Amino acid sequence: MRVPVAIIGAGPAGMLLSHLLAADGVESVIIEARSEAYVLARIRAGILEQSSVQLLRSVGLGRRLEQEGMEHRGIYLQIPGERHHLDFVDLVGRSVWVYGQTEVQKDLVGARTAGGQRIFYEAGDVALHDVTTECPHVTFAAADGTPQRIDADVVVGCDGSFGPSRSAIPDGVKQVWQYTYPYSWLGVLADVAPSTDELIYAWHPDGFALHSMRSPDVSRFYLQVPDDTDVNEWSHRQIWDALARRLGEGIDDWSLQTGPITECSVLPMRSYVQSPMRYGRLFLAGDAAHIVPPTGAKGLNLAIADVALLAPALTALLKHHSGPADAYSDAALHRVWRCTHFSWWMTRMLHQSGDPFDAQLQLSQLRWVFTSDAAATGLAENYAGLPLEGPDRTIFRAPGTADTSTGKGQTYSPSA
Ligand code: FAD
Ligand code: DHB
Repeated sequence: MRVPVAIIGAGPAGMLLSHLLAADGVESVIIEARSEAYVLARIRAGILEQSSVQLLRSVGLGRRLEQEGMEHRGIYLQIPGERHHLDFVDLVGRSVWVYGQTEVQKDLVGARTAGGQRIFYEAGDVALHDVTTECPHVTFAAADGTPQRIDADVVVGCDGSFGPSRSAIPDGVKQVWQYTYPYSWLGVLADVAPSTDELIYAWHPDGFALHSMRSPDVSRFYLQVPDDTDVNEWSHRQIWDALARRLGEGIDDWSLQTGPITECSVLPMRSYVQSPMRYGRLFLAGDAAHIVPPTGAKGLNLAIADVALLAPALTALLKHHSGPADAYSDAALHRVWRCTHFSWWMTRMLHQSGDPFDAQLQLSQLRWVFTSDAAATGLAENYAGLPLEGPDRTIFRAPGTADTSTGKGQTYSPSA
């Protein structure tokens, strides 16, 4: 089989890339290791930046998001006895949206199915070949075991942190920076109405806690736990007690509503950046090139930002043999490093390290954010997300469409 673009991985990066390319008339094939049902059921991120929402809307993926997503003006940040609201709209003129990655994935699968996208699910032994030539190809075993080969002009690795794409760039070429945090998150999904109107990020001597949500009936929580935690060590009673204590039950009559827990898992936390994000005819996007700890809610948004840059660059490369493809890696890495720093900063500010000196510095930093507009604005600007920009700092615009959310015609474009 021959196609212009072979995409490895059907997560949000791979699916959105195929959607953006299709809008520009560029055909692609996606090769995914898991089943469609597995990919659709994975519970992961929950917050979309304003620019992610604008991009999804501008390419026809905004209908359910607008009906079912919840727009938030900001977040609550707290230390014991004090809950402060940061209003991002007042601070930087941008909001964020609660809309689960599961829903984004559902929208993408629906749109790509309607668009006739070819996706090989349950592919085995996926391997990349000849990526430094003009004829790269991907081999794999299809779900029924038959060997397959896809010849492409370009291969895009959207296969997350465990896929083969990132290691197709040789050691002598790539540079890797990584850091593993000495704690993990216990993630909990529960069938209970949120006990808050916007997310609560709580610093607490017992460890960090986060109250998030998925819908008016479903809440999402996270608790800082030691690195080697086995999820079975935590009874549901212990989880609710720890959440109530860390999230400040009793303060100003606030209480945490409890309900049936439907999912519970432990997430390790690390930062990872690999450069360059292009090697010959291989491009990396999303978690294949970078991982951030979840505290700043950046992972999914970064994957979206990467493909917003990459789609027009690939279109220009394939149709006009020129354009911003050469600049993709540097342009993407600017945003990646900003988000890597922000996620590290939020993580370090809010988690107990066990060092009492650290704890005092964290409290001082949090009080600074509570009392200084400059500090609060810095947090808001990063959390609500920077505009999606092309390599030449122009704002990208969707093919033939204007941004309906601001009326300013923002977002991405092959012609930017
Ligand atoms: P992925 O979503 O990982 O998609 C990669 C795809 O490639 C997968 O479908 C995978 O099955 C496929 N693949 C892997 N190997 C192969 C192979 N050999 N061949 C073919 N296909 C392959 N971010 C947040 O902002 N907030 C959160 O709360 C949050 N929670 C998370 C919880 C978990 C457990 C994980 C793993 C991540 C979480 N993230 C979170 C990060 C966020 O989900 C990711 O940043 C986002 O999914 C990145 O999208 P992606 O498409 O780049 O990668
Ligand atoms: C969610 C996850 C995050 O990492 C975060 O910072 C905010 C919300 C969530 O899953 O809802």
